[in-house]
Amino acid sequence: MDIKDLEEELKKEVLGVKTLQELQQVKAKYLGKEGKISSAIANIKKVLPEERRDYGLRVNKLKEYAEELIRQKEEEIKRLELQEKLAKEWMDLSVPLEPAYGTYHPLTQTLKRIEEIFLSMGFSLMEGPEIELEEYNFDMLNIPKDHPARDMQDTFYVNKEGYLLRTHTSPVQIRTMLSQKPPIYIIAPGRVYRRDDDPTHSPMFHQVEGLVVDKDISFGHMKYTIEVFLREFFEEDVPVRFRASYFPFTEPSAEVDIGCVICKGEGCRVCKGTGWLEVMGCGMVHPNVFKACGIDLETYQGFAFGMGVERLSMLYFGIDNIKLFFENDLRFLKEFPKC
Ligand code: PHE
Repeated sequence: MDIKDLEEELKKEVLGVKTLQELQQVKAKYLGKEGKISSAIANIKKVLPEERRDYGLRVNKLKEYAEELIRQKEEEIKRLELQEKLAKEWMDLSVPLEPAYGTYHPLTQTLKRIEEIFLSMGFSLMEGPEIELEEYNFDMLNIPKDHPARDMQDTFYVNKEGYLLRTHTSPVQIRTMLSQKPPIYIIAPGRVYRRDDDPTHSPMFHQVEGLVVDKDISFGHMKYTIEVFLREFFEEDVPVRFRASYFPFTEPSAEVDIGCVICKGEGCRVCKGTGWLEVMGCGMVHPNVFKACGIDLETYQGFAFGMGVERLSMLYFGIDNIKLFFENDLRFLKEFPKC
């Protein structure tokens, strides 16, 4: 075979090679003992003596060329294989390593703290159902049939007659008084539901109810209990004030304000410039409620309070939108590694 043709054939074959294995085969085919180029070298004996020198030079050049060509191809294949491997095993070393453990939801943390404070004061935990009897949620709490709180606009009614999604945790007061004899010192945390939806209201939110029924219980006991709780909760000596208010199930009733924890009473967006934040409702248990539960009015007095957990949590952590609690965004949740 003509040396020029042999060179062309070799070039074509090497060019078409994809793997090192294929290259090995091509190498053997041309440069192996019986290979085409090796044979061409051996053929020198058959060439006319006057052409031998020229033939020898050309065929040896071809051999060197073949070796070089195969070496370059080998390098190219190795380089491509490495690139492929690197692309496959790519790792972003700039990503900060985060341990994959979870944290308590800020609301869970807030509930836990509220519970701990009251448990340390001698209160017990009580629970009630979220689908509640209208009777416990309203009637027995001295909320008359025509009270605006019963309006379809506020309350989620369940299809079954006489049932609703509780609008507050106060029905747990009724359940407790029906099932236990005084002295009663309980708190009742849980979910409540109202037709309300804006940056500070969610249709589902959490409350913690408190109820004390015992002998010789006065407004002073209630005031002290709530003040101690709030100062423990906010971990500072916050100013606390009681504003006369109205709830059908307490008399007298009050709303409790604390000095704004954001601006320290100066007046800001959160406290709407007043320097005060409303944090809960409370009052002395109304005689009609005691009567409905069969508790002797001559022997016992009591007080109750109810607070919004989202509100307390927002104030404690400085969270400005209630929706953040319910979106389950890990970037938000990971900001609360406490507990
Ligand atoms: N149940 C009231 C509310 O949802 C709060 C409250 C509880 C007020 C107990 C007084 C006594 O707003």
